[in-house]
Amino acid sequence: MKEQLENIYNSAKSDIEKAQTMSEIDEIRLKYLSRKGEFNSIKKGLKDLSDEDKRVVGAFANQITQDLESMLKEKHDLFYQKELNEKLQKDKIDITLSGKYIPQGKVHPLTITTNEIVSIFQNLGFSVVTPDLSPEVETEYYNFDMLNVPKDHPARDVQDTFYVKDMDGVVLRSQTSGAQIHVMENQKPPIKVISPGRVYRNENINARKNNFFHQIEGLYIDKDITFGDLKGVLNEFIRLYFGASRPTRFRSSFFPFTEPSAEVDVQCIMCHGEGCKTCSGTGWLEVLGCGMVDVNVLKGVGINPEVYSGFAFGMGVERLAMLKYAIDDIRLFFNDDKRFLEQF
Ligand code: DAH
Repeated sequence: MKEQLENIYNSAKSDIEKAQTMSEIDEIRLKYLSRKGEFNSIKKGLKDLSDEDKRVVGAFANQITQDLESMLKEKHDLFYQKELNEKLQKDKIDITLSGKYIPQGKVHPLTITTNEIVSIFQNLGFSVVTPDLSPEVETEYYNFDMLNVPKDHPARDVQDTFYVKDMDGVVLRSQTSGAQIHVMENQKPPIKVISPGRVYRNENINARKNNFFHQIEGLYIDKDITFGDLKGVLNEFIRLYFGASRPTRFRSSFFPFTEPSAEVDVQCIMCHGEGCKTCSGTGWLEVLGCGMVDVNVLKGVGINPEVYSGFAFGMGVERLAMLKYAIDDIRLFFNDDKRFLEQF
């Protein structure tokens, strides 16, 4: 029996020496050392031996089993390391390989500008009007009548305003000022709001003018609001938007819905005052109109002008973007040229 064990031991040993992979090692363990393996079936015969032989052969059997176990373990560990290294080598990520180009969209420069202006006014305590109070398709009533614009005002002319076909008194709004009326009809003072949006005008298109563009309307109504408040807020806006060093001027003007009225011009940085197509040779670009809300407008919406006063303004988003980024032609915003849009 000892001989039998020796034979099996030798054949197991040579199998182990020949093995090349971890799975071969596992097979050898199964073949010789598992419960149904060759050693066990022989060890079952131990019970028929004399006590003396039992002791000697038993000890021998244990000895060679341990030997085989430790040989198997050694080889197993060796192959494990080897296979692991091979796998690591094979799966290594080559970080020198250039990546795939995934084109990414950008925020439109007018959106960037609008967001910036809105956030400046939010910091000054203004909140943004909900879209339902600021429709793009408007009635003449809100776009003109309630804003104290006379029936014969040239702005109402079809040459200036787009009228919706077959719908009496319906226009594409020519200014965001109508939002002022919607807000005052829906809210009691104090009112401190802005309203960004698109407006339409029947213009001859050039570097400065397009037949649609964007405005941000502002309205502040409370007790004791003065022209000083108006100037303070707008100067602060200009300073925050352009920085303190940009030349600007406050100029008196006229609008039917404000009295007194003013406009703000910003020096053209396309020509620095020398005169160009963008500023049509004047060196300045008008960026906003403003004024103290006309008594007639307040009365129209049922706000008592003896108690409340306020100011309003409307600014051109394209113009403000052009003057910040030195864009010399308004049409660049609208013709979807990626070379232009990618710069923002
Ligand atoms: N709506 C005017 C325009 O489009 C701009 C404007 C002027 C708005 C004076 C105002 C304002 O709110 O008070 O030219």
